[in-house]
Amino acid sequence: MSHSARFLGIAGSLRQNSYNFQLLEALQKSTAQEQIDLEIYQGLSTIPLFNEDMRPVEKRPAAVLNLCEKIENADGVVIATPEYAQSVPGVLKNLLDWISISPALNEKPVAILGGTTGIWGTRYAQASLRHTLVAMGAFTMQRPMVFVNDIKSQLPTPDQPISPDLEQRLNAFAHGMKKWVRLHAKD
Ligand SMILES: Cc1cc2nc3c(=O)[nH]c(=O)nc-3n(C[C@H](O)[C@H](O)[C@H](O)COP(=O)(O)O)c2cc1C
Repeated sequence: MSHSARFLGIAGSLRQNSYNFQLLEALQKSTAQEQIDLEIYQGLSTIPLFNEDMRPVEKRPAAVLNLCEKIENADGVVIATPEYAQSVPGVLKNLLDWISISPALNEKPVAILGGTTGIWGTRYAQASLRHTLVAMGAFTMQRPMVFVNDIKSQLPTPDQPISPDLEQRLNAFAHGMKKWVRLHAKD
C-alpha cells in the first residue's frame, strides 16, 4: 500500500483530560511519520446505553450509525483503553456492544494500547479487550504491545516533552499499525 492509511482512534474514557485520549494524540506524531492519517473519535459521550430492543437498523441511534460508518471508511482502528477493575471501562464495552451487532469491525485491522497511572499499564484491560475483539472478528495486532504504566509522567506537557521511552514505543507501534493494515489490505 503506497498511499497513506486511514485509522480511526478511539479512547475508552469520558474523562476530560483522559490520559488515554492524550496517548492517541501523542500517537498521531508517530503515525504521521508512517503516512497514517489518524482521526481521533470525539463522540464517545454521544453513544447511548446499549439496548437490544434497538437492534433493528432503523432503530439504531444516529451516533452509532455514524460511528460504524467511520469505522467502515477507515483502513484500521486503534483503541486506547484505560483499566477499570482489571478490565475495560464500561463506556468502551458499551460502544463495542453496539458495534458488535454490525459488521463494522469484522475483519477490520485493529491495534490496541493503553495506559494507567499505576504500575501495570492496562495488562488485564488489554487482554479483556483483545478477547472481545476476537469475538467480533477483528484482526487484532499482536505486536508490538504498548502497556504504559505511570502514564502521567510519560506523556508530554507544556513543560516537558514526551518520555523518550514512550516516544520510541509509539514509533514502533505506528510502524506495526502500517504493516498490519498492509497485511490485511482488501483488494
Ligand atoms: C473505577 C476505576 C477503576 C480503576 N481500576 C484500575 C485497575 O484495575 N488497574 C489500574 O491499573 N488502574 C485502575 N484505575 C486507574 C486508571 O487506570 C486511571 O484513572 C487512568 O488514568 C484512567 O484513564 P484515563 O486517564 O484515560 O481516564 C482505575 C480508575 C478508576 C476510576
